[in-house]
Amino acid sequence: QERTYIMVKPDGVERGLVGEIIKRFENRGFKLLALKALQPSRDLLEKHYADLSSKPFFPKLVDYMLSGPVVGMVWAGKEVVKTGRVMLGATNPLASAPGTIRGDYAIDVGKNICHGSDAVESAEKEIALWFPEGVLNYERSLDKLIYE
Ligand code: GTP
Ligand code: MG
Repeated sequence: QERTYIMVKPDGVERGLVGEIIKRFENRGFKLLALKALQPSRDLLEKHYADLSSKPFFPKLVDYMLSGPVVGMVWAGKEVVKTGRVMLGATNPLASAPGTIRGDYAIDVGKNICHGSDAVESAEKEIALWFPEGVLNYERSLDKLIYE
């Protein structure tokens, strides 16, 4: 099954939106493979957002992500990378449709609550980066009721 890395950013954790975000992925039918709260290091964040290191907003982005604890998780399921991004909404919350996480809970791009991997390849890289200890891999009887 495809896997993605979803992370509640420091603003989402402080605002008490961890449960809400988990609930949406659970309700949709995706399977939780890993979950942890941590204070990320600068080094970890610079690796995670390495592709954006030349952007003018990069220092601000790293400071934002360093500002408090985050909750990282791995979700599995059919097309979970693309669907996870749809559930999060557009990068700029004001451009996100209502019903999406950002569209329901955020306004500014620099405080957009959650992260989702943008491709299967980056998802696998991010899972290895944030969960070097590994993640679960299990069968779920519920899948019979979700997948045809
Ligand atoms: P992530 O799921 O966090 O990776 O967001 P994304 O994939 O929707 O967007 P992208 O990877 O391009 O940017 C990563 C993060 O950098 C965004 O989620 C924003 O928090 C931040 N960011 C992106 N563009 C801007 C910008 O123009 N200004 C500011 N302040 N932050 C930005
Ligand atoms: Mg991104």
